[in-house]
Amino acid sequence: MAENKKVIIFDTTLRDGEQSPGASMTMDEKLRIASQLEKMNVDVIEAGFPIASVGDFEAVKKIAQVIKGPQIAGLARASDQDIDRAWEALKYAGDRGRIHTFIATSDIHMQHKLKMTEDEVVEAAVHAVKRAAGYTPNVEFSAEDAVRTRLPFLARVVEAVIDAGASTVNIPDTVGYTMPQEYFDIISYLKKNVPNIDKAVISVHCHNDLGLSVANSLAAIRAGAGQVECTINGIGERAGNCSLEEIVMGLRTRQDIMPYTTDVVTEHIYATSRLLTTITGIVVQPNKAIVGANAFAHEAGIHQHGVLMEKSTYEIMTPESIGLNQNKLVLGKHSGKHAFNLRLKELGYDLSDDDMKKAFVRFKSLADIKKEIFDEDLDAIVADEIIRVPELYKLMEISVHSGSFAAPTATVEMEVEGEIKKIAVMGDGPVDATFQAIKQLTGTSAHLLQFSVGAITGGTDAQGECTVRLESDGREQLGQGAHPDIIVSAAKAYINALNKIASLHKKTAVNV
Ligand code: KIV
Ligand code: ZN
Repeated sequence: MAENKKVIIFDTTLRDGEQSPGASMTMDEKLRIASQLEKMNVDVIEAGFPIASVGDFEAVKKIAQVIKGPQIAGLARASDQDIDRAWEALKYAGDRGRIHTFIATSDIHMQHKLKMTEDEVVEAAVHAVKRAAGYTPNVEFSAEDAVRTRLPFLARVVEAVIDAGASTVNIPDTVGYTMPQEYFDIISYLKKNVPNIDKAVISVHCHNDLGLSVANSLAAIRAGAGQVECTINGIGERAGNCSLEEIVMGLRTRQDIMPYTTDVVTEHIYATSRLLTTITGIVVQPNKAIVGANAFAHEAGIHQHGVLMEKSTYEIMTPESIGLNQNKLVLGKHSGKHAFNLRLKELGYDLSDDDMKKAFVRFKSLADIKKEIFDEDLDAIVADEIIRVPELYKLMEISVHSGSFAAPTATVEMEVEGEIKKIAVMGDGPVDATFQAIKQLTGTSAHLLQFSVGAITGGTDAQGECTVRLESDGREQLGQGAHPDIIVSAAKAYINALNKIASLHKKTAVNV
């Protein structure tokens, strides 16, 4: 029997994924995600866009230094400055460093954005690839907006960049416009009309504006693409990118008609998805394929009955195959350190002894208030206690007075840049009063875009989990807080967003 063809999994959660509104991550957070991707054994991690900001550069450099298995890619426009800067960060990965350079090739982009002719675009692409190839043979070229590019011109660009030294040619659906059959035809056209096409790996990079990114990527694989670019939970610009878990599990589940494999250790999928949610605050919709809360839930009686009799009646893949252990171990106040540590490890958290101790103290104090501690509570503890940005602002005490007779008043004490400050402020409601007090104490002017409250688990003793989306200087940032008292949780979320804004380096405006 012929061996299944391997598909290279190129994860761009830390680059295209980070371009989702509110998904900016600190260096430490990016490193945690990169380590998890390494554990999951993806082939390539696109770690960032080094010229975009000092923060991006440092993150790519650190990931190139620390991560050992996968190749590390960095994005660069087709310009000498971008390419040189990218290699400055990537060189620490040695021969695992990949320069990913791009320029748009569609008429609409060439005329309106680049204001360049076809010849100029070909020349710039070839020049960029040659410059990158001077640093490493591992060069990827992307023809931005490829699917809206006239095919003979796309073929001309692809042939020229392969001649110039590109070892991977990416054919992105930048605006999520294509349809599966059309994408199949585009890849087939290139295979037929680019004489040197066999000298490079064809890559696909699909956005999800029409909800077709996974279907399109599968169609491209069938037409001969050897690499798929994707993100955890499908996060990314606008409607997001092709979701890693969906493409990988699609290939794994339908081996009968899709004879392709990946090297991804699928048992780490669930933990990786949770880690990303914990870090970014971008929640996964409950009905999301593979990692949504309902993906393996069988509510309807007839389904439950079927699954109990024989799993395959309604289950096309097992929860265990993505690392979802359905016999959730519920912890309580009598649970010891051992059970606690074990559960965190099963959930994919690799904490140092010190962090584990800190998390355990927090777990014990929560267990005093709440009878049962679920996995979601543990995620909140790790997010709150361990995955923290440096705290310029800290909440010390808060007390709120409100009700149908009282004017809502929040008295808040905070440490602001090392100084203890306290204020009492009235507002339209207890949350408004709390946010106004924090704003006045910190002297910040971020604009509140969204505030939401959810219960982490069921029951009146559940922790309230608040999410706050703030906008400052044109950038959005999410903050999260969890506490059995929802006003405290709201205050923590607001302060968390302010700390993230303060700690993230501003990005230079770049046209991608
Ligand atoms: O969507 C896109 O075209 C991109 C390229 C930079 C690869 O993200
Ligand atoms: Zn993209």
